[in-house]
Amino acid sequence: MALFKKYLFNTLGFCLIAIIGFTFIFGYNQNVQAASNPGIVFGINTNTYWEDGIMKTALTKPSLNNDTTYIPLRLVSEYLGKTVKWNQDDFSATISDPTTGKWIIFDQKYNYATTETGENIQLKRNPFIQDECYMVPLRIMSEYFGCSVYWHQDTEGIIINKAPTEQEKISYQGLVMRFQDRGYFQDGLGKEALTKLEIFNGTSYLPLRIVSEYLGAKVTWNEADDTATLTMPESTKTITFNKASIYATTDSGNIQLERAPFVQDDCYMVPARIITEFFGCTITWNQDMMSFLITKTDTPQEAKNLVFSQMQNRLAIINTLTSFRQSEATGYQMVINRTNPIPANFIAGTGKLISVRGQQMETNAGIALQQMINGLSAANMSIQVRSGYRTDATQIYLYNRQVGRQGNNRLKAATISALPFTSEHQAGLAIDLSSNGSLTEAFGSTQQGKWLAAHCADYGFIVRYPQSKTQITGVTWEPWHFRYVGSPEVAKSITASGLCMEEYYNKYLAPQDINPYLPYL
Ligand code: DAL
Ligand code: ZN
Repeated sequence: MALFKKYLFNTLGFCLIAIIGFTFIFGYNQNVQAASNPGIVFGINTNTYWEDGIMKTALTKPSLNNDTTYIPLRLVSEYLGKTVKWNQDDFSATISDPTTGKWIIFDQKYNYATTETGENIQLKRNPFIQDECYMVPLRIMSEYFGCSVYWHQDTEGIIINKAPTEQEKISYQGLVMRFQDRGYFQDGLGKEALTKLEIFNGTSYLPLRIVSEYLGAKVTWNEADDTATLTMPESTKTITFNKASIYATTDSGNIQLERAPFVQDDCYMVPARIITEFFGCTITWNQDMMSFLITKTDTPQEAKNLVFSQMQNRLAIINTLTSFRQSEATGYQMVINRTNPIPANFIAGTGKLISVRGQQMETNAGIALQQMINGLSAANMSIQVRSGYRTDATQIYLYNRQVGRQGNNRLKAATISALPFTSEHQAGLAIDLSSNGSLTEAFGSTQQGKWLAAHCADYGFIVRYPQSKTQITGVTWEPWHFRYVGSPEVAKSITASGLCMEEYYNKYLAPQDINPYLPYL
């Protein structure tokens, strides 16, 4: 029983808040894919999220705390059409559903939320403010208002949808679970399991709670001998599992299992097929999606396909998250500026440097640079490679030297030599090129400067600090500074958009970070 309670109690939690008003639609195809899929998609520990397929930036990141996901309240409540009433005096927030009249109140002072029935729901921690956002537990919000939450483990992604309509509930009947992640669907409602499914000798084991909840079966736990008995409603048939036995007992005899039931991530795992066969439900496997569908009655294949298609839509969204996470991980498309500094000793991509004409660059950036130089040579132009990778110490030195040159005006200095830990040179992704040894705006009018502006994208580079974007990049025009973004496709897409990287990836400098006094040392 303890386990069962724990399971019920555990899981996702969350909170919400304010969005920055930046809502740029990207020309980037991974986002287009998600556009057909409505919902809010978050990744843990990133400010980036998608609303109905459009990439946006939130003021804060959802955070995992004590196994509970906290999300910004306002963001999610707005999306779900709930009304939020703030009480500034006591730091409480009341979220209500205008249709049903249900409401729930969170209060920073308490580790429980109170509902309109007077019930107190225990929280893992008090709601809290993070980056000016009121953070609340996702699980409470989703369970209380019945919205759909799908959890994808690998990307640490959360997909939130409005509660399924009655029509959707009818169309999407069944329990669909996948082997790759803990997200599943129950009659069209996205949910999160505590664990992934397990396959043992070709038999799928799934959490007893999930299957019993779906079937509406009653579970009787006997903690003393570690058994769980399932009874279907309006049925006298029972099946009992015992953690210590490879047999399940029924009224009509014992059934041998591939292995004894076991506990995994606090879940009591039982073989899906035994339960479904015993109670006369159907189970259908979909190899493409590594998913299975349990239905109470045998439904036509078309209906099953429809249910699987919902899972398929989720996978499309997950692809978006996956590419986003990959680009975050490799760093080739990482926006580096005063709002998005890099860690100490950070080298993007391969994490390794190679030498090109006496300067170091990240491996792939270096290979691309060599090809770009070859391109210049083929067009009968020579070039000087001035500054590639810089150590943290070098950037600190350069910035401080610039501060001196600017009469101690640190803001001015930061527009010329990047504040330490915000220079692309520190990540090995930037290269400064010159025709005559000097790095000045005049380079933009040279033969080489013009050729590079026109062709650098063919090699995966962009002009990172364009003339017209100083207000947004926080850096003055640098026609000599080229940033590697991972591939010609990405570089061409950014260049063709006419946007600078901040605009393209919707990662602006936060106004407060224009302040050059960041504690970088
Ligand atoms: N000059 C550029 C902004 C840098 O220092 O990275
Ligand atoms: Zn540079």
